[in-house]
Amino acid sequence: MPYATVNGASIYYVSQGNAGVPVVFVHGAGGSHLIWWHQVRALQGMARAVAIDLPGHGKSDPPGRTSVDAYAGAVAGLLDALALERAVIVGHSMGGAIAQTLALTHPDRVAGLGLVGTGARLRVLPAILDGIVVPDQFEATVRLIVDNSYVALDPLMRQRAEAELAACSPQVTHDDFAACNAFDVMPRLGEIGVPTLVVCGRQDRMTPVKYSEFLAAHIARARLTLVDDAGHYVMIEKPAPVSDALAGFIPLVHA
Ligand code: COA
Repeated sequence: MPYATVNGASIYYVSQGNAGVPVVFVHGAGGSHLIWWHQVRALQGMARAVAIDLPGHGKSDPPGRTSVDAYAGAVAGLLDALALERAVIVGHSMGGAIAQTLALTHPDRVAGLGLVGTGARLRVLPAILDGIVVPDQFEATVRLIVDNSYVALDPLMRQRAEAELAACSPQVTHDDFAACNAFDVMPRLGEIGVPTLVVCGRQDRMTPVKYSEFLAAHIARARLTLVDDAGHYVMIEKPAPVSDALAGFIPLVHA
């Protein structure tokens, strides 16, 4: 199993393919690399596709971090550990905040951005932020997050979505949401000069389409793909259109 050592801690990642520009996938609050399985498989013929577990998540060592900047520092450390000089950073939700931050703080390391179900400001519903750390509200808060994150869920998908969130420590998930709540680079998007693909489910309630339209309007080299019949976890609900959009975008980053 592949692990990289970043600041003395093990960071888990999966890596498929070795052609072209590396693409590093970053999950969101309380998540893991598992959300990207379709995209990693779809891109492996055209890129080295790497999906990571952030510190404190999945199979990576604790601790989690308490700010988007600190997570961006950990991802930069992972790029060093994997000897990836430049990569396309694809992030979902908080992962998209981390990707934007890397583009602002380490522009030399970022060849392009994929911003999936995210925004330049990520205020969080108080019921989510506060409820996730209260033991007797944890299950109800997980259900609230899942209810707000998908358009339609069959029982198996619901079970998987709830299990994925429940696998992360409530404190880490809370700290992730608090990091999102404090994140705001709306005035700074003009500083991002790399090619950027923005993807959003048309029914996303956690990071509404308006957020993606804002990203696409203010990042100079951005293109926007809206996906029908999908919510916040667009890469899970409609994996093929998201993978297709990435497959169409990655070759532009080489140019
Ligand atoms: N891109 C573009 N516009 C944005 C934005 C973004 N990333 N983030 C906020 N805005 C806009 C809002 O649409 C709003 O515009 P309006 O005044 O024209 O309606 C304004 O900026 C202020 O919004 P916000 O900062 O979100 O504060 P709020 O007090 O209006 O709402 C919440 C707070 C939590 C109710 C709201 O952010 C929300 O519903 N969030 C989605 C649910 C959630 O918890 N998501 C988790 C994300 S990790």
